[in-house]
Amino acid sequence: MFISFEGIDGAGKSTHIEGLASVLRARGHTVVLTREPGGTPLAEKLRALVLNEPMDAMTEALLVFAARRDHLQQVIEPALARGDVVLCDRYTDATFAYQGGGRGFDLAVLQTLEQWVQAIGTQAGHAVRQPDLTLWFDLDPAIAAQRLAGARVPDKFEAQPVAFFEAVRAGYAQRAAQDPQRFARLEANQTRDAVWADVLAAVKAKGFA
Ligand code: TYD
Repeated sequence: MFISFEGIDGAGKSTHIEGLASVLRARGHTVVLTREPGGTPLAEKLRALVLNEPMDAMTEALLVFAARRDHLQQVIEPALARGDVVLCDRYTDATFAYQGGGRGFDLAVLQTLEQWVQAIGTQAGHAVRQPDLTLWFDLDPAIAAQRLAGARVPDKFEAQPVAFFEAVRAGYAQRAAQDPQRFARLEANQTRDAVWADVLAAVKAKGFA
C-alpha cells in the first residue's frame, strides 16, 4: 500500500499524514512515513537545494527526479517489498503540478523522466511505480495564501504569488483527470475534523483501513 499526499502549499495535508500513520499502525501495519523531495540523506540534500536556490525549471525537474530515484531505490521499493505501508508527503504529481503547471515546464519531458525514474525492475517504460491512492487536498490558492501568511519564513515556492498556485492547482487537476481511479480529491476548505473524515473515507473506499 503506497499512499501519496498532494496539494498546494497551505492546503493542510501534513497533520493528516501523521493521523493516518497512527490509525494504520494501531491496526497492525508497519508504516513508513516519508516525503519528497527527500526521504534519504542524499535526497534531503537535493531538497535543500531545490527549496532554497534559484534555478531554471529543467534543473528543478532533474533534481526532484534525481531525489525521487534515490528515494525509490533506498526507501520506497524496499518498504513495499517488505509489505509495509508507505505514506509519502508529495510524489510525482507534485512535479507535474509545480514544475509542469507552476513553472510551465514541458509535460512530455516530465512524462519521459517519470517512465525512466519510476521503472519497476529492469523493464524501463513498462511498469511505472505509482501510488495506489493519492489524496489531493484541494484548496483555493487565495485561501491557502491567507493560511500561510505569517505562519513561517516562506521557502522559494511558498513565496510565489497566488497566480503561480492557480497554475499548480490546474496541474493537479489535470493529473487527477488523467488517473481518476488513483486520485481522491478532498475539499480542503473545511474544518480540520471534516477533512480528516474525508481522508478516512477515501482510505476506506480503497479497502485500506
Ligand atoms: P512541502 O511538501 O510543502 O513541505 P513543507 O511542509 O516542509 O513546506 O514542501 C515541498 C515543496 O517542494 C513544495 O513547495 C512543493 C515543492 N515540490 C516541487 O516543486 N516538485 C516536486 O516534485 C516535489 C515533490 C515538491
